[in-house]
Amino acid sequence: MRVLPVLVVASATAIFSFSASAAEKHPPKNTDGAKPPVTRLVMPIMSSSRGMQLFIDKKCYVCHSVNGVGGTDAAALDAHDMDEYMNPFDLAAKMWKMATIMIPMQEEELGNQIEFTGDELADIVAFLHDDRQQHLLTKDMLPAN
Ligand code: HEC
Repeated sequence: MRVLPVLVVASATAIFSFSASAAEKHPPKNTDGAKPPVTRLVMPIMSSSRGMQLFIDKKCYVCHSVNGVGGTDAAALDAHDMDEYMNPFDLAAKMWKMATIMIPMQEEELGNQIEFTGDELADIVAFLHDDRQQHLLTKDMLPAN
């Protein structure tokens, strides 16, 4: 029983010396506590009106509807059927989960997988959670064919 505290101290020292040398190689940017920690993340400015245009341009409407406008091959994406407050990353997580169904269908119906940048996805997410903007989508805004 007397051995145990010695072992604990020895392993604690080992962990400390390891993290000290790791910190020398990769010093954190802010350590003074006065500034927020550096995470290298910025939230994009999300625009639901740009998102509405992307919903059309990227052809999401071919399979999904919003405000009764669009296809019925996949789930309707109306904001008023979703939870009141949502984590924007949940939508990307759902798309990822459904990717094995959605992507082959896009390749079949559109000829290729839809691609978008992070900023574009942010705008689409904004549109898909903005009930007021969604009610501005009308059938005559979709391409003719
Ligand atoms: C070619 C058809 C097709 C196109 C185009 C398409 N999807 Fe999908 N999508 C599907 C299918 C199929 C599913 C999985 C089944 C379902 O949700 O009905 C799906 C699932 C989703 C889901 C998850 C829905 C849920 O409740 O789990 C989201 C969100 C989604 N798509 C968003 C988009 C967005 C945004 C676009 C445009 C960038 C897009 N989809 C374009 C067919 C399509």
